[in-house]
Formats: sequence, structure tokens, C-alpha cells
Amino acid sequence: MLMDIATEEFSHLEIVGATIQMLLTGVNSELKNTADESDLTKMLDGKAAKEDYIHQAMINPHFFLLSGGGPTVTDSQGIPWTGAFVNVMGDLTVDFRSNIGAETRAKMVYENLMAFTDDPLVKESLRFLMTREVAHFQMFEAALESIQPNFPPGILQSDPRYSNKYFNMSNGTEFRGPWNEGQSPEFGEEWQYIEEPFKHVLETDGLLNEELEGTERTEEIVQQNNKSLSELRRAEIESANTDGIMQWHEFNPALVAENEDGESPKKATKSKRKKAS
Ligand SMILES: [Fe+2]
Repeated sequence: MLMDIATEEFSHLEIVGATIQMLLTGVNSELKNTADESDLTKMLDGKAAKEDYIHQAMINPHFFLLSGGGPTVTDSQGIPWTGAFVNVMGDLTVDFRSNIGAETRAKMVYENLMAFTDDPLVKESLRFLMTREVAHFQMFEAALESIQPNFPPGILQSDPRYSNKYFNMSNGTEFRGPWNEGQSPEFGEEWQYIEEPFKHVLETDGLLNEELEGTERTEEIVQQNNKSLSELRRAEIESANTDGIMQWHEFNPALVAENEDGESPKKATKSKRKKAS
């Protein structure tokens, strides 16, 4: 699934690239016509054309000034692409959630872009790309759901003393909702609303003497879960690995130790070559 979605995303780059190319220059297989319609040639075509080019440079300086019309490997704000854009944590539940966030943002970028164009064909392309993000969102969500338990991410469970406490830091207006009343969505624990956090901190000796409230989880249960989940994840990873020693080439002992004839690895290789020739 990850490879399928990744491959499809590369094809989206192609669709976006082709769309930009079609918008910037006439699509023409004739080199001459393409050259005639290129931005640089247009700039040479009288004062109005030159002013139009300068206008374009003003509204999109990175593209025209820094690249002269060539491709720039930057994000939509002109920030150069770096490896820092790649988010991985080594835990699939984290990576899936991160991907769901990325799909969400991508969906909204396409939605916003659709408001910037009147071109029906560009709109159609953007709508297709936007739709695929919605499809990917659901694929990641379904894959996340297939991992159980998937909350909290990782292995270590949260401290039950602080998992369902809501501290009211607002001054004046109190806002109540499912985030601080009723049951918490994942653990199903009863939210504990701390109306006066300052007083609460003093009463609990800086939260050190925090009581367990609204939860059935105890420290013992949490430690048991930590252990059993650790064993479960270990078994899953080990069962996914192939038996034997992992290697990427065929191992030839003659190359690292003296062989039966007492030859050094270097000599063994040489005499092997001689025999072969
Ligand atoms: Fe996507």
C-alpha cells in the first residue's frame, strides 16, 4: 500500500508539472513554436511584453528571477526542498497519522488552488488530485485501524494519574465540551475538570500526590500492558523477518580468511582468477 500510494504521488507531480507547463507555454511539439512562446522570447517582443514579464516576476519572483523559467525544487513558499521534509518515526501508527495529516493539508491546498483559477480543465485536474488525497486519507486511516492497539502510539502506556485531567487555564470564560467533559475518546476515561489549577497544584504538592480518578487503569495494569505490548510487537517484527543471516551478497570465506592451501585472501583471489583464465 505504501509503495502504491508513493508511486501514485510521483504521478501527481507529473500532472502538476504538465499543468504548469501547459499554463506557462503553449504545448507544441514543434521546437520553434515552443521557443517562440517561451517567456524569454516573449520578453523580447516589444515594451508591453517586457513589462508583462516584469509583472510576472513581481508576482512570482522565485520562478522568473531565480530560475529564469526553469524548475525550482522548492515548496509553494519558495523554501528549498530538504530532507527535513521527510517525517518518519519507525512506528507505523505514528507514520500513518502523519500521512493522514499530510493528506489533509494536500487536500486543502488543492481546494484553495481551485479558487484561484477559472480554467475548467485546470479545475478538473485539481479536483482529480484533491479527490485522490481524500482516497489516500481513507487508505491510511484503514491501515492504522488494522493495527491494534494503536493508541497511544508506540509501546509505553501513559501515566493514568494524568491521562484524563483537564486544566482550566482560561481567564474568565469557561468552555466545556467533549475535550473536557464526559469520556475521553480513546481510553474511555472520565475527564476530570480541574477548575482551579493553581489551588490543585498546591493541594497535590505539585501534582506529586495526584489521585487516580475516573479511570480503571492503575500503575500495575499500565506496567503489565507495557510488558505484554512490548512482547507482542517484538513477536510481530520477528515473524516478519526471514530466517537465517540477512545478507546482500553471496559470502565467500576465501576472501576473508586463509583457505585450505594456506593462501592469503588476496592470493586466493588471484589464483582463482588464474585458474579461471
Ligand atoms: Fe496523497
